[in-house]
Amino acid sequence: MEFFVTTAAAARHRTECAIVGVFEKGELTSAAAQLDERCGGRIAKLVKRGDLRGKLADVLLLADLEGAPCERLLVVGLGPRTGFKRKQYRKALGIALTALARTSAREAVSYLSLDPPPDADSYVLGRVAADLVVTAVYRIPDHKTSNKRPKALLTRFGIAVAERSEQSAAERGLEHGRGIGVGQQLMRDLANQPPNICTPTYLGNAAKNLAREYRSVRARVLNEQECRKLHMGSFLSVTAGTVQPARLIVLEYHAGKRGHAPVALIGKGVTFDTGGISLKPPAAMDEMKFDMSGAASVLGTFRAVAELKLPINLVGVIPAVENMPDARATKPGDVVTSMSGQTIEILNTDAEGRLILCDAITYARRFKPQVVIDIATLTGACVVALGNHLSGLFGNDDELMQQLQAAGQRADDRAWPMPIADEYAEGLKSNFADFANVAGREGGAITAACFLAKFTDGLKWAHLDVAGTAYVGGANKSSTGRPVPLLVDFLLNR
Ligand code: BES
Ligand code: MN
Ligand code: ZN
Repeated sequence: MEFFVTTAAAARHRTECAIVGVFEKGELTSAAAQLDERCGGRIAKLVKRGDLRGKLADVLLLADLEGAPCERLLVVGLGPRTGFKRKQYRKALGIALTALARTSAREAVSYLSLDPPPDADSYVLGRVAADLVVTAVYRIPDHKTSNKRPKALLTRFGIAVAERSEQSAAERGLEHGRGIGVGQQLMRDLANQPPNICTPTYLGNAAKNLAREYRSVRARVLNEQECRKLHMGSFLSVTAGTVQPARLIVLEYHAGKRGHAPVALIGKGVTFDTGGISLKPPAAMDEMKFDMSGAASVLGTFRAVAELKLPINLVGVIPAVENMPDARATKPGDVVTSMSGQTIEILNTDAEGRLILCDAITYARRFKPQVVIDIATLTGACVVALGNHLSGLFGNDDELMQQLQAAGQRADDRAWPMPIADEYAEGLKSNFADFANVAGREGGAITAACFLAKFTDGLKWAHLDVAGTAYVGGANKSSTGRPVPLLVDFLLNR
């Protein structure tokens, strides 16, 4: 996708599709009014008839308006002018782009940026637009043999700005939005694959492909034997019941100052989570193919960072594994020794995410990272606590937590701070090992974070529980690409 900024007026600019807005009560935006004038008041006529009422995200496609310089006109409702904020801009433009992606237009221009919401500057308008365009043309890499959704034909997209002085900020926004978009696209492509295809080996190959595509990215994929040599007893306990070989994927990106400590991203890569011997109930178990979303978000973030050539140092550590029940599988009651040397009594084999993350965190210490951020679909309890809108944000460093929360806010990919307190960790006590891998049912997202915290001594660490936000279940089942926007925004501001 190619993006551009134009300062040409809507009434003049030739385009295959113009996107303009109408506020509630049929109040035309400036660009809509200009085009209306060119085509003899046809738009105003539609308003008068009641066909265009400007309700937020209502959308109408008009073709071949006589006198207008655009082949198609997409008119989208913006809601009441007083309530028009970045959130409404995002919603209205998103709906318009979905409609646009169904047409055969190869090029389009949005004029919504000429009536900007008060909480978005040209940079933000561009960034939101580009991210939405990449999302609108996204297609699930399905395995249908018929009725395939046709590919969108759109390859060029522009936004209009009023002044030349805004052009460079808008261009920067488009570029960053494009980077975030392609990062999310990789995450979604990986997470949407069925679990018989997206295995730990497949994720390892995805990392190698990324390194092949971007010279700035290095990928190393460790096998089980190498992990055994590293004493990753906790990580390896999860792979005991599967025939799929586990992988430890290590990514490096160095475009920052030499010797400058990197940010470390750690992604949970459980390519399928049956629960193991602590087997999950059957309902919606297929959704546990998304249990590698953390891993996919790390790969997606690397793609965005490499695409944008950000001047930073970044490492990624992805423990990738399938969690299955089997005669050889880890049993409740088994005690394992983590890479840190601490022993763990595994009381529930379905609490496997923390078992692989703890060894990955310990492994990441060799890079002497300035901060460590793990991303994981870690607990159902986090979904109970926060639902599907905000990710859970935990950590041991207030500044890092605040930076991540702010990044989520700016990127419209929000996370909410959750507590870690000693009282919660008491539930992890064990008579047989240093601690157990589960506490009681209550506060499950917090006790999971308490478990991880036991491996973070001396590290600045944050943990994003994305169990509720990384994918949508049910009829519209699909990866969301979250929290790539949050992570890229965080890195943009490093
Ligand atoms: N992958 C799940 C968490 C999950 C649940 C993600 C629902 C997305 C939707 C994780 O491995 C898990 O099974 N967690 C258990 C922990 C429990 C055994 C302490 C859970 O949440 O039930
Ligand atoms: Mn589990
Ligand atoms: Zn899991």
